[in-house]
Amino acid sequence: MNNKITSVVAGATKENFREEVLAGLSQSPRQLPYKFFYDELGAQLFQQICDLPEYYVTRTEIEILRLHGADMAKAIGPQIELIGLGTGAGTKTRILLEELHDPAVYVPIDISKEQLEKSSARFREMFPALQVLPVWVDYLEPFELPLPRRLSSRTVIYFPGSTIGNFEPETASEFLARLVDLAGDGGGLLIGVDLQKDRDVLERAYNDAAGVTAQFNKNLLVRANRELGADFDLNRWQHHAIYNSTEGRIEIYLISDNEQTVHIGAREFQFRAGEEILTEYSYKHTIAGFIDLARQAGFHFEQVWTDGARWFGVFYFTVAN
Ligand SMILES: C[S@@+](CC[C@H](N)C(=O)[O-])C[C@H]1O[C@@H](n2cnc3c(N)ncnc32)[C@H](O)[C@@H]1O
Repeated sequence: MNNKITSVVAGATKENFREEVLAGLSQSPRQLPYKFFYDELGAQLFQQICDLPEYYVTRTEIEILRLHGADMAKAIGPQIELIGLGTGAGTKTRILLEELHDPAVYVPIDISKEQLEKSSARFREMFPALQVLPVWVDYLEPFELPLPRRLSSRTVIYFPGSTIGNFEPETASEFLARLVDLAGDGGGLLIGVDLQKDRDVLERAYNDAAGVTAQFNKNLLVRANRELGADFDLNRWQHHAIYNSTEGRIEIYLISDNEQTVHIGAREFQFRAGEEILTEYSYKHTIAGFIDLARQAGFHFEQVWTDGARWFGVFYFTVAN
């Protein structure tokens, strides 16, 4: 196996982008799938979000990794194959890899091709003994793993950034069950999960004063205009994020500020003033609730590390032999 990017089912092609945008806008209520946020500009904007003062998520998860990375490495064990799911720029994975004992193989899996190429090149330089085998796929679709050259003791999946929060509970449970199979007998899952907290903290994090999250959200429309020849007028759409405490989730919308018509190729979509397009959910879990969810999927709970305020949790689960 060489070190080129393996693409089993291509990440985000123009065809599946068109298909999913048309399907999402034809639904009621209307939706645009969050996985298409991450083109080159979207990935850069997400990096800026991570540095915003209001966005505690990344900072807190990194703090937990720095404080407890050695303990995590001990729980995980030596010579593993690490599968990174949506590890993006790889800031957290780097911290983890520096703590792990002689990791054998790293398989980053991401839908964002540019980001995957850049971060894989950096990891090869930083960790010359590690075999890096990037896979450019949409992990929601079935995919195969590349065959590593180095032998490993077990497979451990790393799924940081609370991306699991984007899934509705039933889908999260199905996805976790797929991860049980992916990790295999004796494997593990290290997963970052954002926890329930004060509404103000949450709503500020997703409605930042500098407007970067709004730009990130609207980038879906920019992308549809560029790649699908759509004619969304960006000035007529507003970003809005609210915490739905009954469901325990942040809901992110694009809101039409007036009655308007949008064209995508030959298709035409009418929007009412105030009509919403849902672009993302971000579920906030409780520690006990998340352990339950993972247990139902087939994982065995080992340990959780949190920050002092218990805003974020990094959980370690294993699969029985
Ligand atoms: C919220 S970012 C988190 C990045 C990084 N894990 C972190 O914690 O900072 C989500 C990452 O997952 C990737 N991603 C989102 N949906 C995906 C999908 N369906 N398949 C593969 N990668 C996906 C994005 O490209 C992006 O790199």
